[in-house]
Amino acid sequence: MALFSSKQKPSEVSVVPEHIGIIMDGNGRWAKKRGLPRQAGHVTGAKVFRTIAKHCEKRGIKVATFYTFSTENWKRPQEEINAIMNLLREYLKESLADFKKENIRTRFIGDRSMLAPDIQELMHEAEEATANKTGMILNIAINYGGRAELATAIRAIAAKVKDGTLDPEAIDEACIEKHLYTADQPEVDLILRPSGEYRLSNFLIWQCAYAEYVFDEILWPEFTTKDLDNALAVYAGRHRRFGGV
Ligand code: FPP
Repeated sequence: MALFSSKQKPSEVSVVPEHIGIIMDGNGRWAKKRGLPRQAGHVTGAKVFRTIAKHCEKRGIKVATFYTFSTENWKRPQEEINAIMNLLREYLKESLADFKKENIRTRFIGDRSMLAPDIQELMHEAEEATANKTGMILNIAINYGGRAELATAIRAIAAKVKDGTLDPEAIDEACIEKHLYTADQPEVDLILRPSGEYRLSNFLIWQCAYAEYVFDEILWPEFTTKDLDNALAVYAGRHRRFGGV
C-alpha cells in the first residue's frame, strides 16, 4: 500500500517538478518473492524504467534522473553486475533505433571510465544521437555517486586554481554547480523512492538541497504510470518554502 494518499487526480496536478530523481529500488525483493534470481527483478525493472521515463516526458517534466548503478553497487555479486550491465547494453542498442521516435535527450551521469568499452561507445552514440532533441533530458546515473561527483568537481576546480585560470575567491555555489554532471540543469524538485526504503543513498546529494521526497511501499518492478501520477499529485500539494516563510 502506498504511504501517501492523495485526493487529487493527475489531471488536477498543476505544479509539475522540473527535475525528478527516481531511485529504482526493490528489484531484488520482487524477484525473491517469486522465487526468481535477483537478475529477473532487474529485467522487469528495466522494462518499467522505459515506461516511466516516457511517462515523465508526457507529464512535462524537464529532467528525469534514474539511479541505475551506484559507485557502491560494485560490491554486488559479479553475476548481478553483469546482468545490470547487459540490460544497459541491450537498452542502449534498442533505443538507438527508438531515439528517432522520441523527443528525449539522453545523458549519462557518473564515472564511465570503469565501464566496458562497448558500453562507453554506445553511451556516446546515444548522447550524440539525441543531442539536438528539444524534449525532456533523461539522465541515466551509472557508476554514479554524489560524493564521487563532488570530489570530481573539487579536483577540476583545484586544477583551475593551480594553473591560475580560477581565482579561489570566485569559488561560490554557482561555480561548484558548473562542475557537476548536471551543470546546465535545474536542481532536483522531487525524489521518488519506492520499496519502503527511506534513504537518499548518495544520489544527487548537492542537487537535492531543497528537494521534496515521496516514498512508497511498491517495489520498482510493480511501479506503474498511475503511481507516478500519484507521486506528482502529492508533490503538487506540497508547500515549498526554500528556507523562507
Ligand atoms: C535496486 O534494487 C536496483 C538496482 C541497483 C539496479 C537498477 C537497475 C535497473 C532497474 C535496470 C536498469 C536498466 C536500464 C536499461 C537503465 P535492489 O536490487 O537493491 O533491490 P532490493 O533492495 O530489493 O534488493
